Amino acid sequence: MPKEINVTCTLEAWAYEELPAADQALLRAAHEAVKRAYAPYSGFRVGAAALLENGAVITGNNQENAAYPSGMCAERVALFHALSQFPGVAVTALAVASDGEAEWGAFSPCGGCRQVIQECELRQPAPIRLILQSRDDEVAVAAGIAQYLPFSFRAKGLGKQGS
Ligand code: THU
Repeated sequence: MPKEINVTCTLEAWAYEELPAADQALLRAAHEAVKRAYAPYSGFRVGAAALLENGAVITGNNQENAAYPSGMCAERVALFHALSQFPGVAVTALAVASDGEAEWGAFSPCGGCRQVIQECELRQPAPIRLILQSRDDEVAVAAGIAQYLPFSFRAKGLGKQGS
């Protein structure tokens, strides 16, 4: 018999009005970014707001393209922008919002964005607080990306082979 490896992932489900004020403010910035999204193909608009340890709030939204894979998710637009402007400055929290309907209560980031959030975390000492909301009132909060991305890809020795 193989042994089982079990992982526990924990999300907090909050009502928006009960969230800490700082989380509410970051979510508001994400909802503002939703309004500037470019999503003519899917009609699913997403906004993201990253809070940096220097106090900066960097927002992004999904940017679609007629050549579908050329588009980009909101989380990655926000994080890549933040990291390109402020390398070495930690991302404390990331709020993501959508005016679309999620499968379950709150918005859930796609696999590619989870991987990028993880890379961002690995570049800094502390995990990133994740605050996620779609059209509904329910907000999911996670202490870090490990709660969304168990068994993640992290290759030992990557970067040590060749140039
Ligand atoms: N999308 C995001 O912006 N973030 C995610 O985590 C999931 C999906 C966007 C990509 C595309 O523009 C639209 O939502 C529908 O997939």
